[in-house]
Amino acid sequence: MRDLFERIHENKGPLGKWASQAEGYFVFPKLEGPISNRMKFKGKEVITWSINDYLGLANHPEIRKVDAEAAAEYGSAYPMGARMMSGHTDVHEQLENELAAFVDKEAAYLLNFGYQGILSTIDTLVHKDDVIVYDVDAHACIIDGVRLHIGKRFTYKHNDIDSLEKNLQRATKVAEQTGGGILVISEGVFGMRGEQGKLKEIAALKKKYNFRFLVDDAHGFGTLGQNGKGAGDEQGIQADIDVYFATFAKSMASTGAFIAADKEIIDYLKYNMRSQMFAKSLQMQLVKGALKRLEMLRTRPEIKDKLWENVNALQNGLKENGFDIGNTQSCVTPVYLKGSIPEAMALVRDLRENYGIFCSIVVYPVIPKGLILLRLIPTASHNLEDVKITLAAFAGIREKLNNGTYQRLSEEVVAST
Ligand SMILES: Cc1ncc(COP(=O)(O)O)c(C=O)c1O
Repeated sequence: MRDLFERIHENKGPLGKWASQAEGYFVFPKLEGPISNRMKFKGKEVITWSINDYLGLANHPEIRKVDAEAAAEYGSAYPMGARMMSGHTDVHEQLENELAAFVDKEAAYLLNFGYQGILSTIDTLVHKDDVIVYDVDAHACIIDGVRLHIGKRFTYKHNDIDSLEKNLQRATKVAEQTGGGILVISEGVFGMRGEQGKLKEIAALKKKYNFRFLVDDAHGFGTLGQNGKGAGDEQGIQADIDVYFATFAKSMASTGAFIAADKEIIDYLKYNMRSQMFAKSLQMQLVKGALKRLEMLRTRPEIKDKLWENVNALQNGLKENGFDIGNTQSCVTPVYLKGSIPEAMALVRDLRENYGIFCSIVVYPVIPKGLILLRLIPTASHNLEDVKITLAAFAGIREKLNNGTYQRLSEEVVAST
């Protein structure tokens, strides 16, 4: 046998192998200063298009005040212990009641993190005889939740209702044999490319097939639907979502998450969900902060309007200038360009160093070879000047990509190393 760590010495993993070239720049960059439309990267101001602070609440003075007061009053420890044992309070309950009412469900339950929360929700909802059917492009937390399932699972092609239907037929056959049920999982908004999940079409299949529907609405909550109730509300089928999930990590600009459903289902999850039964309760400062953020969503529709003014200006501007922004139906704004990975690296350096634009970049193997995906997240704290500067910068980089400048620059880097 060999030392367990030998494998780690030999293989750093698909991303880890690029660490020496990419760390601090393409991965683990350090954005400094208050969270806003303009931050500092390597000492220079950049327009930040890579932060999911959709509503600009992260640094809103009223939010900062409530966060600071709650931290002063409760510290970061209170309450101690899991909810079930010693970590329960009236304020946690109040937040759950307000969240449930906001998303039109009977009850809600808080989760410490979205990732482990949804993973554990999936684990708790299904039994070995049940079948899971989920979108193949689902977020890692859904995939990891499905991995815990010891029964059958099927993927359907991304947002493809025919493929979903075929897999529902397969799932129905299995469930009829085992005596189990079916859980279908989609995202409300797919965070990489911005398409909404086809929630309406999926919900319509309930007339033909017997299944329960779980939606991860991390990017829809706060940005879509009336007052930001999410993608289910936007598509008019919130009532058909059996278990609704959203995180506080995006529009709410905080940490934590929740699930909402019928009271009987939430009660079951409260008593059986391992991630919450065996983990410390969400800190009071986060709970108090979430109550304030939710109040802002409910009472300040102008914040979401400002977000969409920026989204529309950016997306329309890109389209009018001939950029391919795919099929986004949300704030997530992808820009697809053609080029190699070395060209993509030279392009991103140029964007950051010379144009002062900071956005995320995605290349093969996450997307097909030869494509470069620049991903922009407009927020309410951006303004039309930011959009104008960015559109001009994108015209500049497209020209350099087409005239071979980035190809040349990347060859020079290779030659000098
Ligand atoms: C679709 C989706 N689900 C779940 C999560 C995880 O949420 P959290 O950051 O609260 O763990 C994320 C990322 O934040 C996400 O994008």
